[in-house]
Amino acid sequence: MINIIGAGLAGLSAALTLAENGIKCRLISAQQSERAQSVLAEGGINAALNTMGENDTPELHFEETMKGGCYLADPNSVEALTQSAPAVVKKLAFLGVPFNRNANGSIMLRSFGGQKKKRTAFAQSSTGKMIMTALIDEVRKYEAQGLVDRFPHHTFVRIIIENGKCNGVCVRDDSDKKLYDIYGSVIMCSGGLNGFFPGTTTGTVTNSGNAASVLFAQGVKFANLEMIQYHPTTFAIPGKRCLVSEAARGEGGRLFSERGGKRCYFMEERYPELGNLMPRDVVSREMFRELQSSADTFLDMTGINAAVWRGKLSDLRSEIMHYLAIDPAKKPVPVQPAIHYFMGGIYVNERQESSIKGLYAAGECACQYHGANRLGGNSLLGAICGGITAARNVTSDNSDVTEAYNSSEPFASVPSPMFVKETGAVLTRGLGIIRNASELQKALNELNAVKCENAVELARRELAAAMLMSALERKESRGAHYREDFPETKEKYRRTTVSVYENDRVNISFEDIPERRNE
Ligand code: FUM
Repeated sequence: MINIIGAGLAGLSAALTLAENGIKCRLISAQQSERAQSVLAEGGINAALNTMGENDTPELHFEETMKGGCYLADPNSVEALTQSAPAVVKKLAFLGVPFNRNANGSIMLRSFGGQKKKRTAFAQSSTGKMIMTALIDEVRKYEAQGLVDRFPHHTFVRIIIENGKCNGVCVRDDSDKKLYDIYGSVIMCSGGLNGFFPGTTTGTVTNSGNAASVLFAQGVKFANLEMIQYHPTTFAIPGKRCLVSEAARGEGGRLFSERGGKRCYFMEERYPELGNLMPRDVVSREMFRELQSSADTFLDMTGINAAVWRGKLSDLRSEIMHYLAIDPAKKPVPVQPAIHYFMGGIYVNERQESSIKGLYAAGECACQYHGANRLGGNSLLGAICGGITAARNVTSDNSDVTEAYNSSEPFASVPSPMFVKETGAVLTRGLGIIRNASELQKALNELNAVKCENAVELARRELAAAMLMSALERKESRGAHYREDFPETKEKYRRTTVSVYENDRVNISFEDIPERRNE
């Protein structure tokens, strides 16, 4: 029996792959699948399906993914990702995902950032919701056959490590707070670190980051923690940031800044080739500079025609009207960049194996596909492919579950809201779009002064320190990591930043990126 932690897209994908191969698994999650972050993904999923007459190929998808990630991703993992993408999307269509279609019935593709070909398959602007609905349904069929056992409302506490190997997981039943030790291999699919940045991310803070923190404290190796993606077009709603999908720019939306009543379409002026569809790191930095020079920034979608609004972006339009009382078809929408995605996470190889035997990771909690900057449309794909790969490689023997027990297990404690708010404010200040050594060091000092009341708070503080220290140690600018004190990109830093917690301290080092095998 295999234990999957997290029931979002990566978790469902792993469960489905195992079940299709007749292997039983437990799908353990604090929230039910319908509440997962994956449901909120709007714009689409990338695959070189070449249905738009543009001679697209998986090789071009590979090249643009590597370039977008500033050559920090594992090329063999990206190769597997981009080669398998067309089959993945066709399978999703077979499972009932209502992708928009061309007149000849083929899957329609839209333009997305950092890609010169139309390569992003979409279901209006609710692609994540539609994919999740199809996979939830498919996994239920296997649940009925006894191949998938769901444990919603069970929170990860820690992994069980015996003789250096992960042999299972301790979880808490959230209804009675009792603990269980569940044996077998573990696939972590616990999502991104949104909970470290309350109020300033487009992601759900129910992805608390506690699981990642505990794993870090238990000695699991992490990578590229400084690589945090800012999405250029968001606006504030209570408790978080709301995304205006890149699809809006893919369908003709234009960014402009306004100073003294004068508009400047800065992306089109500065980047004539890709304009508004430059990779997100570039667009966010340009917007940040506009905002710093006291301009306001807007997304002008008034040129998008009625048929496109109706057929491809209707959900996005309703969302903007609902939250801002602005009809984006008639009036520009004020937007600003905000944290959207964590390229870094649990260090995994191309088999999705972590540094601890028996522990695998997939989806946003793992680091591998996206390097220094993820291309829009590659996250849904990465979650599905990561889940499939982990499921294909995982093996397990013992699958016992202990009786429920009460204990004062240190990692069963929870961080206080005040601790989360305080550390979140420090991280947000230190890990902005533009960084420098003195701000990072100041943030690190402030972080170390925050008092920890329990083991989970301590673990969170160490992982937060690792983010700041990774950013301090990378003395260059690359992708989402921009240092104004080191603005150039340096070949000697084309390496993975590795963070490990050992002997009660955080160690940062750099490791070579694997060579591409099939050139
Ligand atoms: O803008 C978007 O629709 C986001 C897509 C993504 O992050 O992949």
